[in-house]
Amino acid sequence: MTAIEGARARVAALRAELERHDHAYYVLDAPTVPDAEYDRLFQELQALETAYPELQSPDSPTLRVGGRPSSELAAVPHALPMLSIHTETDTTDQGAASFDGRVRRALGLSESAPPVVYAAELKFDGLAINLRYEQGVLVQAATRGDGSTGEDVTPNVRTLRRIPLRLRGAPPPVLEVRGEIYMRRDDFQRLNASQAAAGQKVFVNPRNAAAGSLRQLDPAITAKRPLSFFAYGLGEVKGWAMPPSHSEVLDALAAFGLPVCEHRCRADGPEGLARFHRDMAALREALPFDIDGVVYKVDRLDLQQALGFVSREPRWAVAHKYPAQEVATRLLGIDVQVGRTGAVTPVARLEPVFVGGVTVTNATLHNQGEIDRKDVRVGDWVVVRRAGDVIPEVVGSIAERRESELPRYDLLEAIKHVCPECGSHVVRGEDEAVARCTGGLYCPAQCKQALLHFAGRRAVDVDGLGEQIVNQLVSAGIVRTPADLYDRDRVNQEVLAGLERMGEKSAANLLAAIDTSRDTSLARFIFGLGIRNVGETTAKDLARHFGKLGHFLEADEAALLEVSDVGPVVAHCILDFLAEPHNREVIAALQRAMRWQETEPAARPEAGALSGKKVVLTGSLPSLSRDEATALIEAAGGKVVGSVSKKTDYVVAGSDAGSKLEKAQQLGITILDEDGLRRLLSPADALASDGQRLLFGA
Ligand code: IVH
Repeated sequence: MTAIEGARARVAALRAELERHDHAYYVLDAPTVPDAEYDRLFQELQALETAYPELQSPDSPTLRVGGRPSSELAAVPHALPMLSIHTETDTTDQGAASFDGRVRRALGLSESAPPVVYAAELKFDGLAINLRYEQGVLVQAATRGDGSTGEDVTPNVRTLRRIPLRLRGAPPPVLEVRGEIYMRRDDFQRLNASQAAAGQKVFVNPRNAAAGSLRQLDPAITAKRPLSFFAYGLGEVKGWAMPPSHSEVLDALAAFGLPVCEHRCRADGPEGLARFHRDMAALREALPFDIDGVVYKVDRLDLQQALGFVSREPRWAVAHKYPAQEVATRLLGIDVQVGRTGAVTPVARLEPVFVGGVTVTNATLHNQGEIDRKDVRVGDWVVVRRAGDVIPEVVGSIAERRESELPRYDLLEAIKHVCPECGSHVVRGEDEAVARCTGGLYCPAQCKQALLHFAGRRAVDVDGLGEQIVNQLVSAGIVRTPADLYDRDRVNQEVLAGLERMGEKSAANLLAAIDTSRDTSLARFIFGLGIRNVGETTAKDLARHFGKLGHFLEADEAALLEVSDVGPVVAHCILDFLAEPHNREVIAALQRAMRWQETEPAARPEAGALSGKKVVLTGSLPSLSRDEATALIEAAGGKVVGSVSKKTDYVVAGSDAGSKLEKAQQLGITILDEDGLRRLLSPADALASDGQRLLFGA
């Protein structure tokens, strides 16, 4: 065998193997080899084709990475015109009934004749493509164009690994396959994220992204875009004994190795069609790609033939739409809303449009970062999306329809850095997309959330003060800030007993619980303030470090940074919160209403038995609750941390301890049971403790 013969055989074997792997991976969703092995085979084939250019062929998988760019897409006349399809705009069941009625009349069926059998499938929201296979090899791919002439996108389509370059089985000499090129929603999100990160154009929706990606002059760009494909029909066919029905044609296309969507069925009469329409509507949100309706086709091909066409539309098929999820409208203005967490959200005021089945006049713009990314300006035409129960959003502006230069929108400037709800300052951290109101304790938009947090079990713990009561107290204007809870002119037996679903007894209990909560700890109090990024642990660190509320309130950035685990981000959140006079007023009022133990910072219990030690709690202890154990450990100067690492000093394990205990054993960390912990903490033993003695199970 000569060198070229050897190469030829190897090239054929490599192509066959790569094709099998592509089919398994892209069509069957069942990968057969690891990526690295695939890459090795691919590179070997590329090397052989470079060494022997005469072995190059139109069905080589190496073409999938994109060939050389062209200066324009060439025109391709379609052997059979690519027709459009009649759209049934009545989105109710009546849409299916009207179509069935037209079909029955055209076929001259009497009322007593059995139901017509249809093939029902999804209407994919992408762009139509014609794939021409000759002797089973993909030789040309063309867009629909005007229906008679399309654009040649062959090199681009060869980069789609879901589209076979060579059909499997025994395909006919000429087979044109028609279908839809589309982009999955998750692929679209990822593509847009990477486009934005690279400062490149972002797309408004998956369909535009698919069209833009396919109609590239440089196929290497298409190769990098995540395009998908479903086959749904035929163009020119020669030398094939066609199956008798459309359903079976699709089965045959799947057997040739083409992707055919699994969501299709044979449906009997208008009831069967309407059921499919409803079933797919229910599935719509869960599908990984966009559809804008379903398509019904008379299943028998001989009946299709008999029905024929009217004005370039087949009589045997119809698209039955769903309410559009995306429409264009005018952006009249931008309002702002303050959320429960203080996030200041820009909201688009729109010229009313019907989208996703309802009339929409407002849609979220999310935040300043999104406004910038989508380049949305007041006065623009924008695309509004409402899918399922999701809040309507502005997905982008239509820059081409901007008639004159419009100013960029700056949220902070528009509100003059002041919260429209409470007049507190609004800040946007560096590298943060979201702007926030700093009046956490005072702002009416945030007060329900603030009250619930303050009264929470891990904060000052007002037993029985839940969402329902907070809602009533706030809505009736009785309480606005946590300090109001302790004001007996506002909250008293009479007022509480007057609330819905509150008897005399529960009112008395709640009042008692509010009074009990006056006795708290500084750590709980600080946590209860609800400062952004100040969780329970940080609040404890702050309380221990500063000892007195006064010291904490006076701390500057440098002082805050001295606290263990407080970094610049947390420090700024604290400073922003305390800089707000409204918050200071509420804190002052609370200071008068409540009491907690204060210590001088010097008297911090640094010298406890667990001073500076990191302890992990796992499993349930026989007598101590998790909170009690934490309190004991912290009182002894230790810190309870969540996960076991080399830096962990002790693991306290109870029953049903799982992976944390295992990990501690692997790392050789000292493990204690509850008794061990107690002995470690009792001063007599602590003196003598060397840890080892306290080990259990060792
Ligand atoms: S059949 C002669 N089936 O909808 C009938 N079209 O005007 C040819 N489409 O842009 C179309 N999903 O690309 C058919 N399951 C489906 C479809 C589908 C989407 C698109 C098609 C064309 C438009 C029809």
